[in-house]
Amino acid sequence: PMISALRGPSLSYFANPFDDQGSICHRYEADTLILIEDGIITHAGAYDPALVPHGIVPDHYPDGLILPGFIDAHVHYPQMPLIAAHGRQLLEWLDHYVFPTEARYHDIDFARLIARRFLREELRAGVTTPITYCTVHPESVDAYFEEAARLGLRTGAGKVLMDRNAPENLRDTARTGYDQSRRLAARWHGQDRLFYVVTPRFAPTSTEEQLDLAGTLLREGDGLYMQTHLAENQAELAWVQRLFPASRDYLDVYDRFGLVGPRCLFGHAIHLNEREWARLAEAGATIVHCPTSNLFLGSGLFNLKRALVSANPVRTALGSDIGAGTSVSPFATLGEAYKIAQLRGEVLTAHQAFYLATLGSARAISQDDHIGSIEPGKEADLVVLDPRATPLLAERQSHAETLEDQLFIMMTLGDDRLVRATYVAGRKRHDRDNAGDLS
Ligand code: GUN
Ligand code: FE
Repeated sequence: PMISALRGPSLSYFANPFDDQGSICHRYEADTLILIEDGIITHAGAYDPALVPHGIVPDHYPDGLILPGFIDAHVHYPQMPLIAAHGRQLLEWLDHYVFPTEARYHDIDFARLIARRFLREELRAGVTTPITYCTVHPESVDAYFEEAARLGLRTGAGKVLMDRNAPENLRDTARTGYDQSRRLAARWHGQDRLFYVVTPRFAPTSTEEQLDLAGTLLREGDGLYMQTHLAENQAELAWVQRLFPASRDYLDVYDRFGLVGPRCLFGHAIHLNEREWARLAEAGATIVHCPTSNLFLGSGLFNLKRALVSANPVRTALGSDIGAGTSVSPFATLGEAYKIAQLRGEVLTAHQAFYLATLGSARAISQDDHIGSIEPGKEADLVVLDPRATPLLAERQSHAETLEDQLFIMMTLGDDRLVRATYVAGRKRHDRDNAGDLS
């Protein structure tokens, strides 16, 4: 077997701090030994030299902080080239920036180039599980999964389904979209650590026939995922009501086609009525909160408290939503989530935030048996932070009194400089201080 080991301070969550307000939900170990065999954690506990296998020298990070790799549960890798495209809100932003960029992905070499750059950025940011939209072109999916498989990532992706209200060169048909998705799922789903995500872009760009076939795909497949956008922007809401007059509300459009259930991921969900909240909770569906995107596009302030601190909570993960989001860094995502809560008169604690970016998102996407915490049996996706990476961080950390203070400083001031190293299934795939391209 391939054996490796890490040593240093570590932090991992085992319970939900939104449920157990005030009780301890994390485990901090000042000097941890993590042993890894064939990509799986076999031991995580206090360092003991007697436990280190003969001939193995642990990667030692005495001033670091080892965490589970971060999850980015809603992102568009093809939109990386258009980050910071400004001056418009959702619908005009799509027409003006997104569609012309996505049209380039019929070219598999271009798709490979961007997929590669995107995954390097995610690893540099400490993200080990992205769940991404591709474009309408099957080539964009093959390019992504080829690169992800090479890196050994646990990741999901899917071909965008779009058969109306989009430029001609970005439209499939209900039938070709179905056939292509089926072929891609057969090729990639369950290969290594990859999973396929049925991806109708959002209600306005699919006919009822296409949504119906997306539901069929989901029912026929074995453990396939679904992702789409929900209630992001007021103009979008009005448009959906015009296009689907028979539906009670936005979520009902998806529900009528069997697209609301476990393993169904809904990006944004800002403007929901109480029926939609209750239905998402009952169905075991997942919302992906995308703070930097919601602020950048002026979409609105997500109600995280209704999602997680309520009698019928809704599974909630976090996403960067690149290119509407402005950073792949989970620190930026967490920092903006905190500010959105502030604007609503609520408080997101640092432990709640770091839980959400790791075990919380893992549980929300139903991957909780594989990733999201540092314990035996879990896959060894790990990130090593350097809490004093910059002069300002070091200065500010020197006044931190608690672990929570330290975490809050990182999520407020942090960026990719804070990420010392990233491990995927026990292999170092990013090393901040080693210019050599590990991945
Ligand atoms: N709604 C439909 N498509 C998109 C997209 O690409 N990005 C965002 N943020 N919202 C969408
Ligand atoms: Fe999105």
